[in-house]
Order: sequence, then structure tokens, then C-alpha cells
Amino acid sequence: MGKGRDNVLYEVRLNIGSRGIGVGEILEGFLISLGVRPEDIVESTQKTKPCLAVYFKSYRASKSLARRLMRLKLKYVAVKIRRLLKKDWLNASEIRFKPFSLTRSLRVVPSWLKGRYRPPQRQHPLYINTSMAFGSGLHETTRFMAALIERCRGRFESFFDIGTGTGILSLVALCCGARKVRAIDFNPDCIKVARDNFRINSYKARGLAAGDIHHYPEKRQYDFVAANLVTHNLVKAGRTLVCRVKPGQYLAVSGVSLENFRHFRESFRKYPLRCLKVIKGKEWAAFLFKKNDSARIRGR
Ligand SMILES: C[S@@+](CC[C@H](N)C(=O)[O-])C[C@H]1O[C@@H](n2cnc3c(N)ncnc32)[C@H](O)[C@@H]1O
Repeated sequence: MGKGRDNVLYEVRLNIGSRGIGVGEILEGFLISLGVRPEDIVESTQKTKPCLAVYFKSYRASKSLARRLMRLKLKYVAVKIRRLLKKDWLNASEIRFKPFSLTRSLRVVPSWLKGRYRPPQRQHPLYINTSMAFGSGLHETTRFMAALIERCRGRFESFFDIGTGTGILSLVALCCGARKVRAIDFNPDCIKVARDNFRINSYKARGLAAGDIHHYPEKRQYDFVAANLVTHNLVKAGRTLVCRVKPGQYLAVSGVSLENFRHFRESFRKYPLRCLKVIKGKEWAAFLFKKNDSARIRGR
């Protein structure tokens, strides 16, 4: 295959109308019967309407599948082929993932595989739908956070997840002993996806709300505060993050780029925190802090 063709992918997309309840399941079954592997079917939501997609390197293969689907003359389903350039399909591949180990005890399983996939006995499944939100668990910054939360397993009850995305870190926390979870994201679409993920994993989605940490009105404190945000936002919201942690309890942050590592560390030195662990990867770093027992900090 030539170099140019390697940069191209063809997407067969099935947009299901709002009246097509249950059609997605039938279509998935049909695709599988045609030889498409379940893990190659991408489920997502476009403006609240469900859609399925399958990706091919060859236009002929995509055309052949699209034709077979069109012959079904399904009501409420539109079949489309899209030519994607590498920059576009890299985004698509982020949600095109297979089950994988997130931590020692947790395995991320794409939500559409629920009921069809059995994880290894020693691992608990976290069913995640990543459509329209960051947080499949594949990104280094999320993996670091999951590891830090698991490290504190059983030592916290209340958990505050700032920039929840798919809700993945809250789900990790619930699996590690959290009883009360508060999760915010300034993107309301993320909150919808996170709510779905709570439900798929049989948790009540009570504490989820759209909100911006830079204008966050609540004064409650938590046993564990988690924030996977870019360095600039972590630094800007530093005081708020620290204030939301109960004395003697935990703060984990991720999303610190290695080039901003020193700047971040310097800017957090002024807070009453003890650093328990630093994880450095190829591009990012994460920190686990413990707030001093008798810490009093003025601010938001
Ligand atoms: C890097 S993603 C982390 C998602 C998930 N928590 C994870 O660890 O995979 C950052 C998330 O924070 C949200 N976010 C960014 N700035 C925010 C802010 N000021 N307040 C609340 N959420 C914010 C974004 O919408 C995005 O979903």
C-alpha cells in the first residue's frame, strides 16, 4: 500500500433516527453476522442520536458493506461513507478501543461489549463509552490517576472528580471504596456521557453536574480530590483544589506536561501539602499529595 493511502481510512456510518429504538442492537448483530468483529464496531452519539461506525482501509470494502446495508432498506437508518484523513481518523481510533488493563484490578471494556465479554477473574470490568468525552483510559494522564486512586484504595469515602470527562476516574474511585462521588465538567456533553457510564456500571449518577472549577461555588471538603487538567488550569485552580481536600487527606493531579514540571512544582510549594508520589511518563506527570493534618488555608 502506498504512503498516501496509509493516511486514508473509510468510515461506514449508520445514523439511527430518534424513532429507531432498538435498531442499533439489530444492526450490530447484522454487522457481526457479516464478519465484522464486535470490537471493530464503534458506537457513539451524535446530537443525542445513536450511530454505529465501521472503518476500512479500502474504499471497495467500505462500499461493499454500505451496499449490503442499504439493501436492507431499514427505516430510520441513514448509511454514509466518509473518507477520513489521518488527522481525523486518529480521533476516531481513540474511541475504537479493545478491552485493556487500566490498573492491576480494573479492566476497561468498551460499553458495547457488556454482556459479550468476560474479563479475567482477577480484574473487575469498567464499562466505558467514550463518545464525545475524554477518558477512555488509554491516555497516560488517566492511567496515572487511576493508579494513584487505586494506591489509596479503602482510605477514602468521599471523592471529588474535577474535569470528569467520561466519568472514568469516579468509577475507579467507586471500585476502590468511595461511597460519595461528586464529579464536575464544564462541558455538559461530558456529563451526559459520564451519567451513561455510571448507569452502565450500575452506579447511581447522583453527584454529576456541569460546572467550571474556576467558578465553583461549593465549599464542601472531600477525602480524595482528583483533577486531570492541563498544567495552566491546575496552577490557576491550585488554591481551590487544595481547599476542597479535608485535612490529612488526598489530592491527585495529572496533566502536568513535562516541560511545565518545574513550574507546576514551584507553584504548589506554597500549599500545606506533602508529596507522596510522582509518576513521570513520556510526556506527562502526575502527583499524589497529602494535605497536612492541621492545615488551614484561606481562599475559595
Ligand atoms: C484531560 S480530560 C480528563 C478526563 C478524565 N477525568 C480522565 O482522567 O481521563 C479533562 C476534562 O476536564 C474538563 N475541563 C477542562 N477545564 C475545566 C474546568 N475549568 N472546569 C471543569 N472541567 C474542566 C474537560 O472538559 C475534560 O473533560
